[in-house]
Amino acid sequence: MDVRELSEVETVGVVGAGTMGNGIAQVAATSGYDVVMRDIEDEYVERGLDSIEDSLSRFVRKEELSQSEADDALDRVRGTTELPDLAAADLVVEAAVEEMDVKRDIFADLDEIVDEDVVLATNTSTLSITAIAAATNRPEKVVGVHFMNPVPVMKGVEVVVGEKTGPAVVELAHGFSEALGKETWESDDKPGFVTNRILMPWLNEGIRAYDEGVASKEDIDRGMTLGTNVPMGPLTLADHIGLDVCLHASRTLHEELGDRYKPAYLLKRKVEAGDLGKKTGEGFYEYD
Ligand code: 3HC
Repeated sequence: MDVRELSEVETVGVVGAGTMGNGIAQVAATSGYDVVMRDIEDEYVERGLDSIEDSLSRFVRKEELSQSEADDALDRVRGTTELPDLAAADLVVEAAVEEMDVKRDIFADLDEIVDEDVVLATNTSTLSITAIAAATNRPEKVVGVHFMNPVPVMKGVEVVVGEKTGPAVVELAHGFSEALGKETWESDDKPGFVTNRILMPWLNEGIRAYDEGVASKEDIDRGMTLGTNVPMGPLTLADHIGLDVCLHASRTLHEELGDRYKPAYLLKRKVEAGDLGKKTGEGFYEYD
């Protein structure tokens, strides 16, 4: 199998300029790659570039990057609304919405646009890599690279191996993640992989415990942070991830793995009310 190697990767294509896409674009740019970041509307691209600038300025404030390193990184990210602009990419990471049909369409298009030996990675958090790969004529060159939110801060990347993913492609996914300063682990292409299979029931149980009056939301979060040394309790973390994202992931797991993954009633009610967490100013908590 002819695969473009890591040493040949100069330009990284990123599909999606949302929270995950702009984070991936940022870490690729600070690691020296040229990046083409694509979203469907100019407004989304602009918002993604603004987030990168804001996040880079935090690293400058902490003196982990100089101002000129931050400026160079930002210059290396080119925003676009045209998918064909990814033709220059030596590796593509897709981080569009978590909808199978949308991802399959994007992968079918990318398959036509980028060179034959280019690896197509997806940042999907719960969808089947194998089903996404089947939309292309290169399923052996499709792999999961599941980044964690916030991407610039979180050290871990989950490499997900689809039914047809080739060994050289798995190796490239690990190598690329490490080139971005991340540490990896590997999961088979089973629903939720390692992280969300375990995280989503934990979040839903925290929400249920709150709904059933086990403790106040603050005490549930304090119990888990002080009691198990995690940085955020389940209600705060659900807000941080986005309650719509949590609900979507939980529904996929429920569908695939049965009742033990049923989303909490209150999670559904919050999403119905439009309270999606930090990003809308209100979830289980309120934010400025
Ligand atoms: N860019 C740059 N720096 C950032 C940042 C960003 N987007 N977000 C936070 N930071 C930095 C801050 O500058 C700060 O740096 P410092 O400690 O050196 O001053 C540090 O991160 C901590 O930030 P804050 O003080 O604002 O807030 P916290 O102390 O609460 O930390 C956190 C934020 C790093 C998000 C921490 O709470 C944490 O690790 N939480 C758990 C996050 C987590 O579990 N993520 C995975 C979710 S699961 C997932 O993503 C999978 C998906 O498929 C659902």
